[in-house]
Amino acid sequence: MKDFAGKIAVITGGGTGMGRELARQLVAEGCNVAMCDVSAEAMAETKRLCEVERLPLGLRITTHIADVAIEGHLKRFRDELIEQQATDKIHLLFNNAGIGGGGSLFTNTREQWEKTFNICWGGVYLGVRTFLQLLMKADEGHIVNTSSVNGFWASVGIGVSHTAYSAAKFAVKGFTEALMNDLRLNAPHIKCSVVMPGHIGTSIVSNSRKIQNGTESDSLSENDLLAMRQRLKGIGIDTAPMSDEDIQKIALVRARTFRDEAPTSAAQAAKIILDGIKAGKWRILVGDDAHKLDERVRQMPERAYEAEFYQSFAAEVGWRIG
Ligand SMILES: NC(=O)c1ccc[n+]([C@@H]2O[C@H](COP(=O)([O-])OP(=O)(O)OC[C@H]3O[C@@H](n4cnc5c(N)ncnc54)[C@H](O)[C@@H]3O)[C@@H](O)[C@H]2O)c1
Repeated sequence: MKDFAGKIAVITGGGTGMGRELARQLVAEGCNVAMCDVSAEAMAETKRLCEVERLPLGLRITTHIADVAIEGHLKRFRDELIEQQATDKIHLLFNNAGIGGGGSLFTNTREQWEKTFNICWGGVYLGVRTFLQLLMKADEGHIVNTSSVNGFWASVGIGVSHTAYSAAKFAVKGFTEALMNDLRLNAPHIKCSVVMPGHIGTSIVSNSRKIQNGTESDSLSENDLLAMRQRLKGIGIDTAPMSDEDIQKIALVRARTFRDEAPTSAAQAAKIILDGIKAGKWRILVGDDAHKLDERVRQMPERAYEAEFYQSFAAEVGWRIG
């Protein structure tokens, strides 16, 4: 797909982060956008930002409340889109919504594990199922599934249990790579890409915590406190003398630095993704850190989960997220 003007794009998780920036850049190129999120407030802000510039006549930006892990919500989103965008087709599908957390079989509950897995994997799978018919009706279509560097490397450092997110992101990568052939065989006018971002400056750390805990508060749950203590121990910090309040403060600073001190911004990431689609890439790595990690894992797969591998990679790219 060489340009987006006059097309219709669906974006899941359009409320903040990369989803928001994708919406803004698509609208700036004259593309109609229908987004969903669990936060109406966040989507209203995305819409406002999209409308700051004068929109081409007739361009539509619609917002829809839907949890991507629930098929009924996605179907309702699709039906609302058909009505509000006055269309029976879409051209672009960005399965972008995702959260972290819930990564341990020991210190997290099953509900937390499955929440992350069902959003990050189920949301992508159900997104494709739900919108495939509308993509089929377009003259050309493109499915963009967001995985992560955790789709080829199942870790964020040795102090962190990361099974739910990694399992989901590997699934997204495997599914999208296999989908290429399924599309070639059965719907050659539709292409797909898997997006694998490195560290991107978004509020995913605090958003994930809030969604996992079902609260708008930034307070850590018992599980969060335990996970944070493990994470700090993993980087050699003795947390025994620290109170829960100390841990809470460190977690808040960490969520802020994750957003504000990332090597790649959400806007830069969205541009890389959109340029990748235009260039016909099926494999879109986002950020120098993602490219370097991809190389390292291929060079030394057997050593990928050793402390030294992480430490030397983190030192090279300046990661402080483990
Ligand atoms: N930020 C990073 O460093 C990074 C790295 C690799 C991959 N990713 C992936 O990129 C995607 C976007 O993440 P981001 O960093 O922009 O995060 P973000 O938290 O800024 O944005 C994600 C959006 O998805 C929404 N969302 C969460 N659960 C949802 C659900 N069940 N249904 C609908 N919407 C939901 C959130 O409300 C939020 O608006 C995610 O899939 C994430 O896993 C992010």
